[in-house]
Amino acid sequence: MAQEYGARFPAWVTTEWLNLPEEIAPQLADTATAWVRAWRRMDGPVVNEMSERMYGIARDLVRSRREAPLPVEDDPASSLLAERVDGRPLDEEHLVGALRQSLVVGMVAPPILLGSICVHLSRDRELQHRLRTQPHLLPAAVEEFLRLYTPYRGFARTAAHEVELHGRTVRPAEPVTLVYASANRDADQFPDPDDFVLDRPNIASHLAFGRGRHRCAGMPLARLAVLVALEELLAGTGGFELDGPLEGARMPEIGYVSVPLRLTAGAA
Ligand code: HEM
Repeated sequence: MAQEYGARFPAWVTTEWLNLPEEIAPQLADTATAWVRAWRRMDGPVVNEMSERMYGIARDLVRSRREAPLPVEDDPASSLLAERVDGRPLDEEHLVGALRQSLVVGMVAPPILLGSICVHLSRDRELQHRLRTQPHLLPAAVEEFLRLYTPYRGFARTAAHEVELHGRTVRPAEPVTLVYASANRDADQFPDPDDFVLDRPNIASHLAFGRGRHRCAGMPLARLAVLVALEELLAGTGGFELDGPLEGARMPEIGYVSVPLRLTAGAA
């Protein structure tokens, strides 16, 4: 689930979002997956090789949009090309860098989250059945899964000015770790925090995408992508269950990087 479906699906989403040619999707899936895995084993040469491949895709994209721009509302690369800062266009390396980053930014969290969701639904077959037969519940379910299985444990900040929080003073320039996964299980905010509860009044107020100025820029797309991936998985199967050892994600992520599943064909 996490390594095949979960890792490939976001490459198709990225290809669609950036209006890349369809044949790029499998290439991007392989490159980005190899890049993420190499990062996990701290394999510098492979990280660099895969990164260079993604730079290649980004450079080709900039070149092709310079030759034939698309409407800026529909196309991130054309929009970046049309951008002006103090009357001047962005330089080539910024354009290529932003697009290269866009190729991978949505590839890490969705596979881990989909893995965690499938572990949960394999263990709670009643919920799996309920979501399969009542797909209108899926948007709320995705929010509750994001809260329970926050794929990015947390992020860091540096305090800009002094602030008093829960009787502690954070001083300017002090580094702060924001542990989103822990906040998402704060019983003061989410009663019965370890349980999956579909009718929480504040179900979408979790911090899985962060909060404030640096909140996930891809949040609407990420929500939609996970929803569609889950919808299709449930609609395309009659059931699924765990079928082998799980492999957990490591810092800074939480979830699973390998989730072997046995799929049962649907009734249709
Ligand atoms: C389930 C999927 C995803 C999750 C859980 C997630 C979560 C996050 C989190 C927690 C942050 C950091 C927020 C902070 O610093 O406080 C972040 C940043 C970011 N995410 Fe996502 N993300 C997901 C998918 C995506 C996708 C699909 C895209 C792009 C299409 C994307 C683009 C970004 C960008 C550009 C930033 C940096 C924002 C900034 O620093 O201003 N993310 N994401």
